[in-house]
Amino acid sequence: MTVDDPTRASSAPLLTGRGLTRTYRLPRPSPFQPGAVRHALIDADLDVAAGESVALIGESGSGKSTLVKLLLALDAPTAGSVTFDGRPVRPGRAAALRWFRRDTGVVLQDPYSSLDPRMRIRDTVAEPLRALSIDGDHRALVDEMLGRVGLTREHGDGYPHELSGGQRQRVAVARAVVHRPRLLVGDEPMSALDVTVRAQILALLRELRDDLGLSLLTVSHDIGLVQHLADRVAVLHDGRIVEQGAVDDVLRNPRHDYTRGLMASVPTLD
Ligand SMILES: Nc1ncnc2c1ncn2[C@@H]1O[C@H](COP(=O)(O)OP(=O)(O)OP(=O)(O)O)[C@@H](O)[C@H]1O
Ligand SMILES: [Mg+2]
Repeated sequence: MTVDDPTRASSAPLLTGRGLTRTYRLPRPSPFQPGAVRHALIDADLDVAAGESVALIGESGSGKSTLVKLLLALDAPTAGSVTFDGRPVRPGRAAALRWFRRDTGVVLQDPYSSLDPRMRIRDTVAEPLRALSIDGDHRALVDEMLGRVGLTREHGDGYPHELSGGQRQRVAVARAVVHRPRLLVGDEPMSALDVTVRAQILALLRELRDDLGLSLLTVSHDIGLVQHLADRVAVLHDGRIVEQGAVDDVLRNPRHDYTRGLMASVPTLD
C-alpha cells in the first residue's frame, strides 16, 4: 500500500477523542478572589484510522499540545473520552495503561531535552522495550531500528552530545517506534531541524508508515510537511477544532479565517 492509497482512511478508527475539554484554574490573584478559568480545549472530536496520517495545525496556544496529551492519557480531560481500538483510555496506573503504551509511541518537540545525556544511545532506544516488558532480543531489535533510521551500531555505543541535531531526532524516532507501536504521535517533531534534515526525517516517517503500517498523528506549523505527510488535517483555533477534513480540501478551500491566513502566507501550494 502506498501513502496515497485513498482506501486507507476508510478503515475503522484506531484512536477516537470525543468531546475532549480541558480547563485550567489559574492561580488566585488574591486570597479573596477566585482564580480565573482558562479553556485550553473545548469539545474536540478527533479520529485517527488505522494506517491513517492526521495533522493538527493551529497558532501557538490554540490547544494542540493539550489535545495530544489528552489523547495519549498524559493528562486527564475535564470532560470527554478517548478510546483506542475500541477500549477506553484513561490516565492512571502505569500497569493499567501498559497495553496502550505498547501500541503507541511519542516524539517530543525538542530532541535534546528528550534524551538522557548520561545514557548511551543504545540504552535510550532500548528503554521502552524494558519498560514495556517486550519479548525478544532487545539488542537485535535496537540495532535493527538504528539501521532503519540511518544510524550505525557505533552511533548506538555513543552518547547524545556526540550526535548532530538531526541524528538525535532520528534517535527519538527510533525510540518511539522500537516496540512496533500502531500509532506514532509527534508534537512538532521537526521544529528544531533545518530543511534538509526535515526532509530526511519526513522521508523516514513515510517509510516507517509504509513498512510498519503505522498510523500518524503529527502537530506541526509546517504546511509543507502537512501536505506531504498527512491524509487529513484538523485546524485548532482558541481551543476549538474549527475545521477538519482531507488535507487537499481543507488547504485548497479553507473555510476558517485562520486557515485562510495560514494559506495566504504560503507562496505556492505545490
Ligand atoms: N498547565 C497549564 N496551566 C494553565 N494553562 C495552561 C496549561 N497548559 C496549557 N495552558 C494553556 O492552554 C492553552 C493551550 O495550550 P497548548 O500548549 O495546548 O497550545 P499549543 O497549541 O500546543 O501551542 P504551541 O504551538 O505554542 O505549542 C494556552 O492558552 C495555554 O496557556
Ligand atoms: Mg504545543
